[in-house]
Amino acid sequence: MTDQDKQSVTTVFDQVAGRYDNPSMRFFPFCADRLIHHLRPAPDAKILDVATGTGAVALAAAQVLGPNGRVQAIDLAENMLNMAMANIQRAGLSNVDFHVMDAESLEFKSRYFDSVTCSFGIFFLPDMLAGLTSWRQVLKPGGRVMFTTFSANAFHPLAELFRQRLETFGITIPTENWMRLTTEQECQELLESVGFTKTQVIKEQLGYHLNQPEDWWEIIYSSGFRGYLEKLDAEQLGRFRVEHLAEIQSLMTNKGIWLDVETLFSTGVRHN
Ligand SMILES: C[S@@+](CC[C@H](N)C(=O)[O-])C[C@H]1O[C@@H](n2cnc3c(N)ncnc32)[C@H](O)[C@@H]1O
Repeated sequence: MTDQDKQSVTTVFDQVAGRYDNPSMRFFPFCADRLIHHLRPAPDAKILDVATGTGAVALAAAQVLGPNGRVQAIDLAENMLNMAMANIQRAGLSNVDFHVMDAESLEFKSRYFDSVTCSFGIFFLPDMLAGLTSWRQVLKPGGRVMFTTFSANAFHPLAELFRQRLETFGITIPTENWMRLTTEQECQELLESVGFTKTQVIKEQLGYHLNQPEDWWEIIYSSGFRGYLEKLDAEQLGRFRVEHLAEIQSLMTNKGIWLDVETLFSTGVRHN
């Protein structure tokens, strides 16, 4: 990933922010709850939530902290942060601060946070090793990082059908960001190469059935997948939608269309 890729990631998330918190994508708040469950922060913890998006993890964390705990939530996409602020306000919480900030250039003191969290964000970093190293730097000794990524099975076979259909429209998707860190071994090695100890990677299935093909459309149109659709003109987009949703419809069972969201929770501790 280059800095230009980083800019286009920001542009896509600014664009999708208004539709991001839709029910078809409820795996984001599900995952945030699971992450905080695994993390078990102390009531007075200081938490940094990196790539907070619309604030799913910041919200889940803020809900379990006591009066002396606080969350700093950062993202590059301002529109996502505006949604996050609204979500926190709506929940009646006031223990989260928001900052437009790059996950690779943190502007916090060293050894300040008890935990650094990042749900489905690390794979957007051009240099994941450098990014994670800088997150370690802001952790107190004994502090814990926890990040989530999708496993290689996630979105199977819907994402493959999406990719193949795009290819028939002359658009080739390079390795998608989320596919850069999809195995337990890769996550474990990344944590260890940064020097984290007590490392662990937990795999959980957070998937569910979608009611109709349009729910999958909502997911691709409201997430990072959207960037590829922007390459189609209006006529192509209409045709793509019809052809792609017909193949998604063929996956329908009596329970609906399975959305696989197998997720890896990776964690480690800063020893000193
Ligand atoms: C898939 S969303 C996940 C949002 C949220 N953590 C959640 O689980 O719902 C990824 C987020 O990462 C943000 N992001 C990508 N690269 C970033 C960077 N270098 N620094 C900060 N945020 C970044 C995007 O703007 C987007 O909001």
